[in-house]
Amino acid sequence: MSNEKWFEALLFQLFFVSLAVNYTYSTREHLYVRACAGLRRYKYIRNMIQKIEKLLSEIEAFQPATAADVEAFRIKILGKKGELGNLMEEFKSVPAEQKRELGQRLNHLKTVATERINTLKEELMNAQAMNASKIDDMTRPGSNEQVGSRHPISIVKNEIVGIFARLGYTVADGPEIEDDWHVFSALNFPPEHPARDMQDTFFIEQNPDVVLRTHTSSIQVRTMERQKPPIRVICPGRVFRNEAISYRAHCIFHQIEGLYIDRNVSFADMKQSLLYFAKELFGEQAQIRMRPSYFPFTEPSAEVDVSCSICGGKGCGVCKGTGWLEIMGCGMVDPNVLKSNNIDPNEYSGFAFGMGIERIAMLKYGVGDLRLYFENDVRFLNQFESAL
Ligand code: DAH
Repeated sequence: MSNEKWFEALLFQLFFVSLAVNYTYSTREHLYVRACAGLRRYKYIRNMIQKIEKLLSEIEAFQPATAADVEAFRIKILGKKGELGNLMEEFKSVPAEQKRELGQRLNHLKTVATERINTLKEELMNAQAMNASKIDDMTRPGSNEQVGSRHPISIVKNEIVGIFARLGYTVADGPEIEDDWHVFSALNFPPEHPARDMQDTFFIEQNPDVVLRTHTSSIQVRTMERQKPPIRVICPGRVFRNEAISYRAHCIFHQIEGLYIDRNVSFADMKQSLLYFAKELFGEQAQIRMRPSYFPFTEPSAEVDVSCSICGGKGCGVCKGTGWLEIMGCGMVDPNVLKSNNIDPNEYSGFAFGMGIERIAMLKYGVGDLRLYFENDVRFLNQFESAL
């Protein structure tokens, strides 16, 4: 082999050797770097696991004295900037292949912490309740329970409804905000009737008129719209009139209306029903008398007086020496009212009556000032007892 060739072969071999050395060296370097990174990651994850384990034992060992301790502990572990939150932040940098295992550990930590905190809270609350109910002095007098009772207006209303219920009447209802038709027109009020005047009716709107009902007679109309005769209803409700408030008048009060329509209903039926009512409400000795009167929706109409239960009819301050107390208005339903409500006056007749509940309650209980019913003064209300 010539010198030249030999040299060429040497170079060629050297080239390969250097390639191999280079390769080996760079692979080692690479492996080293990789190993370091792996070690760092391993430490990072081991560190997280250690933190989780530490928190788990801390949670298990936690013994709070008060509910406030539990709350502080909750904030420390589960709060927005708490230990679990920090671990969650760290979790973001965990490599994908370890995410699964660490995720499970973190979830476990959260469940354990939440359950333990809830249990501790409940235990402390129960202990507190037990303490509060502990009777430390068995001889201590008991506390008086305040038993309420119904309002006198409700007591009287229920009593009146009860009496008429025994005569076969059912209770009917209607709205407090009414229109002209139900309060006036359908009840045969002429257009110029003073009740339509601004002076005693609360108008909410005009043309078409919307008013606060001035009497419960509007429920008569609503009942006739809904129901065909025979009709036998009693209608309790609140009514409104623009009156100056005094011991005998108020702008809000309560009425009870009655309506009975059937074939052959007579004035005698009305008188007998109202006498029965007066005796049930004021006692067996009660008598009634009727004085002719006027209402647009009844013809003939009457005012009903009951004999004064205070003086037994002899005359006293309450009945102003007359022996009689006015309790209601009544009358035979005007044929025009029946016609307005599509009931044939040749086939049917009926009677109606209406009374103020406050007035009846004043007479029954001897209350001298109507305003007392609206003031909610317990010294007044406590004096009335009723079965609840
Ligand atoms: N609505 C009358 C009023 O408020 C009371 C009344 C009188 C009602 C006679 C009636 C009745 O049904 O027949 O003064």
